[in-house]
Parts: sequence; C-alpha cells; structure tokens
Amino acid sequence: MPQDIRKFSRSNILVSPSILAADFCELGRECDEVVKAGAEMLHLDVMDGKMVPNISFGVPVITSLRKKNDALFDVHLMIDRPLFYTPAFVKAGADHITFHIESSDDPVKTIECIHAHGCTAGMSLRPGTPAEELFPYLDQLEMVLVMTVEPGFGGQSFMADQLPKIAAFRKEIVRRNLNCHIEVDGGIGAKNVDLVVANGANVIVAGTSVFRHPEGMAAGVKVLHDAQDKLDSAL
Ligand code: DX5
Ligand code: ZN
Repeated sequence: MPQDIRKFSRSNILVSPSILAADFCELGRECDEVVKAGAEMLHLDVMDGKMVPNISFGVPVITSLRKKNDALFDVHLMIDRPLFYTPAFVKAGADHITFHIESSDDPVKTIECIHAHGCTAGMSLRPGTPAEELFPYLDQLEMVLVMTVEPGFGGQSFMADQLPKIAAFRKEIVRRNLNCHIEVDGGIGAKNVDLVVANGANVIVAGTSVFRHPEGMAAGVKVLHDAQDKLDSAL
C-alpha cells in the first residue's frame, strides 16, 4: 500500500529517521524497529558523489527495503539528475521524493514528473541558498526540506544560522495558505529540536540521535515527538 504524506497534518510532529545512521548489516531489522518505535516514515538519503562529496545507496537498497517494510518512504535525492532518476526511485518504492534546487534538472519538470508517477514532491536547498529561491515552486510542493548541515554526511553539527530560513518558509506558507510540510534535516536531536519546531518545522529528520540513542531508538524518537507543545504554540 503506497503511503501519502498528505494524510498527515502540518500541526503534528512527524519523525523521519535517516537510515544513514543505521547499521547496514542489520538494515531491514533496524528499519522495522524504528517504525515500531513510533517513526511516521523512513528518510532515505541517496547521494551520487557528484552533487555531494559522498556516495550512499540507491535503487537496489530501496527495492529490498520496500519488500519488507510498508512505512512511508521519504526519499531525499542528493543527486545531480533527479528528473532522469525519478522513475527508477518510484519503481523502487518511494512514496515521497525530495530533490535539490542546486541539481541540474529543471525544477518544474522534475516536480511534474514526480507527481505524474504518483508520488508527492519536495524541494531542498543547501545552507547557502536563500529560502526565496524556492518560493516560486511552493504551491506545487507537498514539502520543503531545510538543510541544517551541508548535505553529504550524517553526524554533522547543527547549523543554528538556518533557523531564520525555517521561519521564512513558515511565514510564506501561512501567507499563501499552502498545504506544505516543512522538514528539517541535519544534526537534530534533544538539544535543538525545540528550536527548529518553534520556528515552524514539523517533519524532523534525525539519523544519529535516533539510531544511536544510548537508550534505544524509541527514546530517540520520543525526544523528537515531545517537541509537539512547541509546535502547538508556534502555529
Ligand atoms: C545529510 C543527510 C541527513 C543526515 C542526517 O546529507 O541528508 O539526512 O544523514 O543525519 P544526522 O541526524 O546524523 O545529522
Ligand atoms: Zn536527508
């Protein structure tokens, strides 16, 4: 059964654990465990070694995971040609596909291709790219993804200077009355989840703080859901 991010409300915190921080020898089992721990979706970071200086995993890994797991697959493409590769990732089992404005393909064509293949679409931007560059596309997107680290690696330190960007998206989405989730990704955990949520993010990506939480994944997921009161007062 395909899952649809539009079934979730913007007024709820949704947790999307990045499997980059999982033990790849135990990937299937750890994905099951994190969903049972309360995560609403799985964040799948695809890197091509070109758009970002790292190579992660691609279509075959997602295809295998899909056979065993029916969670919402939140695919984050950090690749140069998202338009070309979209059909393959949809076939592999993606439910939602986010691509970067810094990639080489035409954004409108890429969004249209993702939608035509039955997935919801998201766009992301590097820390150095201003929020305004995504504003022209917001009414076609189900989610924007604000990077709070330079894309490419898990386990980096959170960049607090990206908080005003989250707030800028929230302001624009509210002003235009759009139904667009704000996802945030990079270095998020107990120390900063309240801040990102208070600024308007409601979909929280977390790799290290969930998969490597000293008290287990359920504790890592709970810390993020516990920021719900900050979202309630932010909205
Ligand atoms: C970075 C990835 C992130 C990252 C998150 O390029 O997009 O999803 O793996 O991992 P943590 O939470 O460890 O920063
Ligand atoms: Zn990511």
